[in-house]
Amino acid sequence: MKKVLVTGGAGFIGSHFTKELLKDPSYKVVVFDKLTYAGNLDNFPSEVLKHPRFKFVKGDIAVKKDVEKVMNRIDIVINFAAETHIDRSIANIDPFVSTDFIGTYVLLEEFRRRPGDRFIQIATSEVYGSAQTVPMTEEHPIAPQSPYAATKAAADRLVYSYYKTYNLPAVIVRPFNNYGPNQFPEKLIPFFIANALEDRPLFVYGSGKNTRDWLYVKDCVQALKKICEVDINKVKGEVFNLGSGQEYDVMEIADVILDYFNKPKSLIKKVTDRPGHVERLISSTTKVKKALNWQAKTDFTKGLIETIKWYESNQWWWKKIMKRREYQRFYKEWYEKRK
Ligand SMILES: NC(=O)c1ccc[n+]([C@@H]2O[C@H](COP(=O)([O-])OP(=O)(O)OC[C@H]3O[C@@H](n4cnc5c(N)ncnc54)[C@H](O)[C@@H]3O)[C@@H](O)[C@H]2O)c1
Repeated sequence: MKKVLVTGGAGFIGSHFTKELLKDPSYKVVVFDKLTYAGNLDNFPSEVLKHPRFKFVKGDIAVKKDVEKVMNRIDIVINFAAETHIDRSIANIDPFVSTDFIGTYVLLEEFRRRPGDRFIQIATSEVYGSAQTVPMTEEHPIAPQSPYAATKAAADRLVYSYYKTYNLPAVIVRPFNNYGPNQFPEKLIPFFIANALEDRPLFVYGSGKNTRDWLYVKDCVQALKKICEVDINKVKGEVFNLGSGQEYDVMEIADVILDYFNKPKSLIKKVTDRPGHVERLISSTTKVKKALNWQAKTDFTKGLIETIKWYESNQWWWKKIMKRREYQRFYKEWYEKRK
């Protein structure tokens, strides 16, 4: 049986990944998570929390003594733990440097001391900055445009350096924009769905013509499971984009959501563009298809409707988050003051 340390496993993608691994009896999962504002044990139904092959440990990847406690006979480390909201990285970069960069360094050092089978770093397509070539391959220049993207890019390259320097069995994955159930309601799609349901504005930066490559989270975790299982000698030191190749802009998404609920387009409120806003991200899907025989299955329009339905029928999940004082403070300071 393989023991997997899932850092940041109580967040959006990490919790989906954990649930996927637990379906397979050959895995034991340790979720290691600081439970920041984005970490949420509600992402796990009680069957998961009580599962004999599941363990939860609260801790910080940037704190050596916390990491030492969990890095015990671990076969696979998969590092999802991060501060992930670009807007928040503009407002306060400190936790991004600490978690996204220093945290990755602490994990790498501890893994180097007690090496396992593989170290999978969840990087991001944001490290590329806006598309200079279309579609974007793994060779696209690294040109991060936000403090979030810059700390993720630094961590991505630090992992690579441990592979080159210490032959650490590392794989770097750069997912494009994930969406689906259990995504924290400050991220674009759940934010728009929740606000539409409650007749609040759908804040759109600039023209709303910025595009992203949208990847359904359930497709993403299938690819990540394959990365846990492929012969490590074939993927050591490699970078893989995970994208769907399906490109949609912000206004198109707002329209689908408002049409679904039969809400007026006047709920769309255009505000000043976000500084450093990436205009376009579109993934090449060739390398991962060849290496892992994986490609995204979910059509974006179908996945988006599935997601809307999930938020519609699980309102308790996001309303509990939106009622928190921390959420309301960020919402007021970031959105309501924007012109
Ligand atoms: N969501 C996306 O579209 C997307 C796209 C590309 C890459 N990624 C990357 O995937 C990973 C997961 O993203 P997500 O959307 O699930 O994020 P999320 O914000 O939903 O979850 C992040 C998790 O990390 C935990 N965490 C934060 N700081 C920590 C620390 N110091 N120690 C331990 N745990 C800590 C949080 O409590 C939370 O559970 C991140 O590394 C992110 O950069 C996400």
